[in-house]
Amino acid sequence: MKCTVGLRIWHWLNAIVVLGLLGTFFLRKTFLSWRTNSEILMTKLSEIDIEITSKQAEMLAKAVRAGMWEWHIILGYALAFLMLYRIYLFFTDTSEKVDFSSLDMHHKAVKISYYFIYAVLLFMTVSGLTIHFHQELGMSKDFAGTIKDIHENVAYVVAVFVPLHIVGTFVADATDEKGLVSTMIHGKKIIYKVEENIVNDKD
Ligand code: HEM
Ligand code: HEM
Repeated sequence: MKCTVGLRIWHWLNAIVVLGLLGTFFLRKTFLSWRTNSEILMTKLSEIDIEITSKQAEMLAKAVRAGMWEWHIILGYALAFLMLYRIYLFFTDTSEKVDFSSLDMHHKAVKISYYFIYAVLLFMTVSGLTIHFHQELGMSKDFAGTIKDIHENVAYVVAVFVPLHIVGTFVADATDEKGLVSTMIHGKKIIYKVEENIVNDKD
């Protein structure tokens, strides 16, 4: 078995949760940005002769955004559980492991990128929970604000890694690693010899 069912379930749940977190990030910066929406609210309300202050417009725009942003926290908790599950798998998982030194340069880089993203996701989880619970942790608002700025900047690393990873696995699957994506679904190592139409299913 190349990839155990535990690791595969972790991978796809993690993919859904991380894509969801990136979705909330995207919405907060675009369609549900309070800066843009407070201006729209002020303009549209003044067209119907209702004048509101920029502070009031900000409050309304943030209220519109609040329901969406709750999902950031819900998915944040989900990521925290997935990180704990991944740490447990790190010690117990029996997926086929290839010796790092036997890999070519490309696969070494891919492997390092996975270790890197694990570290990034762990950082996002710890920093996210820290901001969320900063009062309970007795942390000053200023310090929580600094952590939030770092959390936000590191989020861009996730936003770059994910599309590169998806495109990378698709390209590998379409070229010299046919069946790579389905390996993450069924877990078996399948070598396709397309020219000869031979499929060799190695368990
Ligand atoms: C939705 C589209 C996605 C597809 C098709 C996909 C596909 C794959 C495939 C085929 C592998 C195995 C590659 C290999 O053996 O080198 C893999 C591994 C991995 N993927 Fe994804 N992935 C997706 C989304 C994500 C997302 C959103 C994340 C979040 C960061 C992610 C994180 C990882 C990690 C950390 C590994 C390494 C797993 C390990 O061996 O420890 N993937 N992915
Ligand atoms: C892939 C993982 C994550 C990404 C990409 C991400 C992204 C972001 C971004 C971009 C912001 C700044 C938003 C802004 O001020 O415009 C933010 C804030 C925040 N994130 Fe995350 N985050 C992730 C994981 C988490 C986790 C695991 C938690 C834990 C609950 C969390 C909780 C928070 C909190 C509490 C804030 C501050 C919200 C506020 O001040 O209104 N995040 N996140």
